Amino acid sequence: MSKIRYKSRRFFRFLLFFDFSEKKKILAKKSQMSSIVCHPIIKNGIATDARIKKQRPPPLVVARPRDLIQEACERLVLSDQQLRRIMVLMEKSMEQGLSGKKAAVKMLPTYVDAVPNGTEPISTIFFQKGDFLALDLGGTNFRVLHIKLEGKETKMTGKIFRVPESIMRGTGEALFDHIADCMAKFMEENNLKDATKLPLGFTFSFPCEQDGLTRGKLVTWTKGFKASGVEGADVVTLLRDACHRRKDIDIDVVALLNDTVGTLMACAFQENTCQIGVIVGTGTNACYMERLDRIPKLAGYVDEHNVTPEEMIINTEWGAFGDDGALSFLRTKWDDAVDRESINPGQHLYEKMISGMYMGECARVVLEDLAKQGLLFGGHSDAISTPHCFPTKFVSEIDSDLLEDDDRTFQKTYQILEDIGVEMITANDCANVAYVCSLISTRAAHLTAAGIAMLLNRINKKHVTVGVDGSVYRFHPTYPTLLDAKIAELIVGDIEYKLMLSEDGSGRGAALVAAVATRLKEEKLAAATASSER
Ligand code: GLC
Repeated sequence: MSKIRYKSRRFFRFLLFFDFSEKKKILAKKSQMSSIVCHPIIKNGIATDARIKKQRPPPLVVARPRDLIQEACERLVLSDQQLRRIMVLMEKSMEQGLSGKKAAVKMLPTYVDAVPNGTEPISTIFFQKGDFLALDLGGTNFRVLHIKLEGKETKMTGKIFRVPESIMRGTGEALFDHIADCMAKFMEENNLKDATKLPLGFTFSFPCEQDGLTRGKLVTWTKGFKASGVEGADVVTLLRDACHRRKDIDIDVVALLNDTVGTLMACAFQENTCQIGVIVGTGTNACYMERLDRIPKLAGYVDEHNVTPEEMIINTEWGAFGDDGALSFLRTKWDDAVDRESINPGQHLYEKMISGMYMGECARVVLEDLAKQGLLFGGHSDAISTPHCFPTKFVSEIDSDLLEDDDRTFQKTYQILEDIGVEMITANDCANVAYVCSLISTRAAHLTAAGIAMLLNRINKKHVTVGVDGSVYRFHPTYPTLLDAKIAELIVGDIEYKLMLSEDGSGRGAALVAAVATRLKEEKLAAATASSER
């Protein structure tokens, strides 16, 4: 009972409008178009309106086998065979990236060559006192975090700042000035302004061509960013310059990392089998521990101790998979439409079929098309035609309507459609909209599963933990389950894996990497001093 809350008077109006004896005809007509749940929009005995209760019809049985909506959306359903083909193509693209050849999947070395192996307790990793900062830029929000280490104790505080669209798409200088400004405000509020050379981990969640832990050139902007003068430039230098310009904060950038790397590291501190970090949020990406002998483009690499590490975390930037046409065999006209209208057409095509920045828009263009074909909303497509009027959180909310047992009421679906201005919404419309949303989110989960399963097969270790983070993974009601189930079907051999929600990888992970990098730096300095004294 508590599940059903009639949220607004408008919903009552809808129930009244839904005069079943009259609407039976509409439903019967609509049922010729769709076999998807056609139950009335009330639950047994819940409706308070007596008239509705009395006239509640039995669930409709679908008369016609051919379902036009299902047929129209056929291409959104991916078979295991198609997913396996994706795995093969993606691995091929990754190998090209690792070899240094021109490749859609860039496979960027991160210069993080060790994850905690679990034998050392966190206290030894942190066996130093101090303050660390972490910056996290990767979407419309920018975060500053302060981590205080006191022996075994760690305390963390943070603040979120918005990055206005004008800044995202203005000049690089304005963007980094904004970052420095937010940082200064945070430091002021947390009495850190007087600290000198505060070690900082910078999570910059865009593709960066790094040649060390503290340097990285932005390859290309993604996720709606377009600030000028940053592509091709070292983002750590841009950050330092912005801090120098304002003169009131003194920081020492000790690590630059991608959010996937933070996610992997944060998970590895809890679970030493963690080898893969995945983000499914505004964008999507994965990193994993790769053997150095499988990274031809790093042949001959030695670290600052003159040692060739056995492994290194590779930031795959798998969002760009398909940019060379590899995904054409399953992309739809709707994917093309989403891509065409995006800020970076032709780029990050795999990401555009999966992540939160695009999932809602993808559902919207499908719904618009179905309405134009007369299969939804009585053929009225105006309301659903406004670009971006259907954000990804609507897909999550509508998909959760499908989780109701028995008679589905589609209250949230109705409410959402009404809010965006769709008129004359029928029960079938709600069921069909929910069907389309579930197709889009299931496809996203299955595409991600193909990527993760491919990495698990490639790593081929008995037990592997996959650290996962991001708004789609966290908040979509069925995405994690769909993802997990499909990975299990796609892996080979006797690999055992588990998905682990990473607690704030981009923030905590960055602070952890900063702490470790600082410790290594200090050790190196001490060793150098000792040898010069000898
Ligand atoms: C985009 C970025 C990538 C990031 C991902 C998740 O794909 O290019 O660097 O990891 O979004 O935030």
